[in-house]
Amino acid sequence: MSDSSYQVAVIGSGPGGYVAAIRCAQLGFKTALIEKYSTLGGTCLNVGCIPSKALLDSSEHFFNAQHSFSEHGIEISAPKANIDQMIKRKAGVVKSNVDGIAYLMKKNKIEVLHGVGSFLDRNTIEVKSEDGKIQNIKAEKIIIATGSKPTALPFAPFDKKRIISSTEALELKEIPKHLIVIGGGVIGMELGSVYARIGSKVSVVEFMDNIIPTMDLSMGKELMKSTKKLGIEFYLGHKVTALTNAGSQVKLTAEDKAGKKLVLEGDYALVCIGRRPYTEGLGLNKIGVETVKGQIPVNEHLQTSVDNIYAIGDVVRGAMLAHKAEEEGVFVAEKIAGQKPHIHYNLIPGVVYTWPEVASVGQTEEQLKASGAPYKSGSFPYKALGRARASMDLDGMVKVLADKNTDEILGVHIVGARAADMIAAAVVAMEYRASAEDISRMSHAHPTYMEAFKEACLAATGNRALHM
Ligand code: FAD
Ligand code: NAI
Repeated sequence: MSDSSYQVAVIGSGPGGYVAAIRCAQLGFKTALIEKYSTLGGTCLNVGCIPSKALLDSSEHFFNAQHSFSEHGIEISAPKANIDQMIKRKAGVVKSNVDGIAYLMKKNKIEVLHGVGSFLDRNTIEVKSEDGKIQNIKAEKIIIATGSKPTALPFAPFDKKRIISSTEALELKEIPKHLIVIGGGVIGMELGSVYARIGSKVSVVEFMDNIIPTMDLSMGKELMKSTKKLGIEFYLGHKVTALTNAGSQVKLTAEDKAGKKLVLEGDYALVCIGRRPYTEGLGLNKIGVETVKGQIPVNEHLQTSVDNIYAIGDVVRGAMLAHKAEEEGVFVAEKIAGQKPHIHYNLIPGVVYTWPEVASVGQTEEQLKASGAPYKSGSFPYKALGRARASMDLDGMVKVLADKNTDEILGVHIVGARAADMIAAAVVAMEYRASAEDISRMSHAHPTYMEAFKEACLAATGNRALHM
């Protein structure tokens, strides 16, 4: 095999691509990873999961210093939010993570090529670096992991100054006086929370009648109650009809279902109405890889319409989540190695890192109703937990949905402190097809938030919650 020939080449170094490359290398394949940017890690590490969580953590510290320290008996003079320092710390967190990926590539002897990858034929990729240098490489199998980009409103493209996406919202040089958030989904609620906590007025304009509308509806209702306490105002059921940048201000016009007009003026509009798969410049039609509105259709082996070319992560169907992309990266590497991997897509958890956090796995109550499946439900509120009283994190609840006949857990939906970590226990339970009674008979340490999971399971098994 020549220097520029590989058994596997991966295009895109996000959580899908870099994990696929590591697993391929572990399985003994000579592997190349192609990334157009100078740093590895893709959306997730550079402008997604990691920087957003860094700002969520900083803003949460600030909010607590302002609002709950005194109650805890900690006296400090009024804290001030220093956005420059928050952004600087976030950049440091990102750097240490992306450097970590570069280290992992070296450790696994993966060849990293920086440049835009595009297909010349089904086994040849041209890699064009920023300085115009071109290198052609050959690979037996190719994995496309080129991710996604933010969707703009059709009538208001991102100007990246006042009409911004999450990428710019992670880099602001000032605290907005009034941040208008268009889309009350995951990004809207996470980044809306960041700025509301450090003093911005935040208005969320959402098309649907609920925020985070793809999750169990009870989650959005609870999260809205909690985030209203941060001062976030909500305009649900509103269709945005115009958005303009008038220099230092943006102006939004929307209307509700009855046609009533809403006009909002703010200094920034964060447009977060979903993301679209990114396949531009790959030259896919040249080699016969089918796309549908940018998304690459794949079969159950994650193969595209050209059988030596696979696609994973945000560029294919399914949840646009880092851990889903990672699972698919491992899956494809193992498929190529002739193994029999499996992904249980219904058990990929979803988390919103607000405070309280929201975390879900399995089916929502709305999905169970729509399918006509017989189910029962048990809930337990955080305010009845000793642990939650101790920490003053009283907002939230755990809701367990179980099969009415067999008692198998079908869905777990948590809004509350530490929900993001708690959901892992629900995933384990559901992977092993536990019943609500199984969980309710297992010892849960006291005092912990996890007791709410046990209590919700007790409630689902027949109104047996002990502390309610
Ligand atoms: P990406 O991470 O998008 O990586 C694709 C890579 O391919 C990029 O580096 C791109 O430069 C490169 N590329 C594209 N075209 C080419 C080409 N032709 N040649 C070479 N390289 C190319 N998910 C979670 O699970 N948890 C979270 O907390 C979370 N938070 C998020 C917060 C924000 C603000 C955003 C925007 C997203 C968040 N996500 C989160 C979603 C998560 O980032 C994505 O689901 C994940 O990054 C998808 O991984 P991927 O590997 O498919 O693609
Ligand atoms: P999203 O799909 O979560 O939310 C978009 C929201 O915008 C929805 O509520 C939708 O009803 C609304 N909407 C759509 N068009 C609209 C319009 N014209 N006017 C008003 N509202 C409109 O998408 P979001 O927040 O942009 O995030 C993109 C993806 O990134 C998410 O789907 C998720 O997969 C990923 N992500 C994951 C995170 C996590 O796991 N914690 C954090 C951030 C992003």
